Amino acid sequence: MKGFVPTPDNVVDLMVGKLFAERPASASARVLDPGCGNGEFIAGVLRICAARRWPIPIIVGVELDPARATTARKRFRAVEQVTIRNIDFLQPSRERFDFIIGNPPYVSILELSAEERLTYRSTYRTATGRFDLYVLFFEQALRLLAHEGRIVFITPEKFLYVETAKSLRELLRAVHVDELHFANESTFEGRVAYPLISTIERTTNKDRTRIIARDGRVSTSAIHVSSTWLPIIEGFVGDTATVTLADIAVRVSCGVATGADAVFVMPTNEIPSELLKFAHPTLSGRQISPARTLDQQSSLLAPYDGTGALLAEPNLGALGQFLREPSRLERLQARSCVTHKPWYAFHDNLPLPDIRRPKLLCKDITASPFFVIDRDGTIVPRQSVYYIVPLNPNDLEPLADYLNSPIVATWLRAHCQRAAGGFLRLQSHVLKRIPLPASFAPVSGFNENIELELRPA
Ligand SMILES: C[S@@+](CC[C@H](N)C(=O)[O-])C[C@H]1O[C@@H](n2cnc3c(N)ncnc32)[C@H](O)[C@@H]1O
Repeated sequence: MKGFVPTPDNVVDLMVGKLFAERPASASARVLDPGCGNGEFIAGVLRICAARRWPIPIIVGVELDPARATTARKRFRAVEQVTIRNIDFLQPSRERFDFIIGNPPYVSILELSAEERLTYRSTYRTATGRFDLYVLFFEQALRLLAHEGRIVFITPEKFLYVETAKSLRELLRAVHVDELHFANESTFEGRVAYPLISTIERTTNKDRTRIIARDGRVSTSAIHVSSTWLPIIEGFVGDTATVTLADIAVRVSCGVATGADAVFVMPTNEIPSELLKFAHPTLSGRQISPARTLDQQSSLLAPYDGTGALLAEPNLGALGQFLREPSRLERLQARSCVTHKPWYAFHDNLPLPDIRRPKLLCKDITASPFFVIDRDGTIVPRQSVYYIVPLNPNDLEPLADYLNSPIVATWLRAHCQRAAGGFLRLQSHVLKRIPLPASFAPVSGFNENIELELRPA
């Protein structure tokens, strides 16, 4: 059955504490646990009531899975205030609850049937793009939440920044996000990436959100936008920088995709002499190390001239012979790009005049982004590397220092998409927006060749 990940008791107790932090449970209050599983949150509510001598409220658990619903029913059969319903929480309902607590299912749209997708798309505003069930659980919980009611949910943090959850962020703007508590990554023993405990209140008289970071830092922020919330949470309120990386760079791009690195890339010391004139030192993301030394042990054989134009087949010479070797030829012809390109072309174009300049390089996916300098400008980076070519080569060193500073690391953490395992996915449209100190502002009419034109007096 969909998305079963039980919540450990310590997290349950933490969340139940947040649920009743402003108002204790009372006998007439209605508490809902949607997707209650075996009833961990219900047990948590009963624990706090016993410990604090509060009356037990009316508690409803909703669970789609019949076996788990039966387990929960048996578990609480002695408590008359608890009802377990074996129904779909996402069905229309007119009920109202004062407290809603849960760990909704994390199920991607891809795991739903075509019929389910269609139903959800027609009834849920948040069912857009590649939505996830927990986003729909949020929307339904908001619909069922009574005035002054409170929701505490633990979910992946992704809804804070992914485009598909924009409509959920819009809905949340109509209520009060009281707290965002970034829970320890090991909460679910690696089964849920980046869990977040959100506390939501239906009230109009508060507007600050308390943010508890994973390192324990506590801050407050006002969240008023539906675009990504991460920058606000990380303390970047609006992008006010007047100079960005795009303003001072000829290029901020992804390295070249050949579509057949196994053919075009080889260890530099194994290149036959007749192919040397086609060879460029090259790097993949894995070869860029935080030690800042560039490992240039491989070369890229490029069927392109110095202007970046693809060589005509008769001009390939020794490289043509090399590439026509049957196993290589077969591999090259199997690439999807060659339906509209010559069989020996790279998947991407090769803007060599821009690439073969002094530049900065960084890995595309990394836990902590770092930028290394290619001073000679000889390296042709491959697609797992981003490269930044400053307009002014004199910016190279200060730019590397700045991009490797903690402030940029924080900015990137706030703006980059997350890849698996806690890694950040760098993308050129994000890199281009990195705010820079005004000292990097390009001098108007700046000409990169100006130094070459200066003559001693
Ligand atoms: C992440 S588990 C959490 C279980 C429990 N609340 C806990 O924290 O231990 C989510 C639960 O939601 C249930 N579920 C999935 N889709 C549901 C739906 N449409 N309506 C009700 N329950 C659903 C799953 O069967 C699963 O038991």
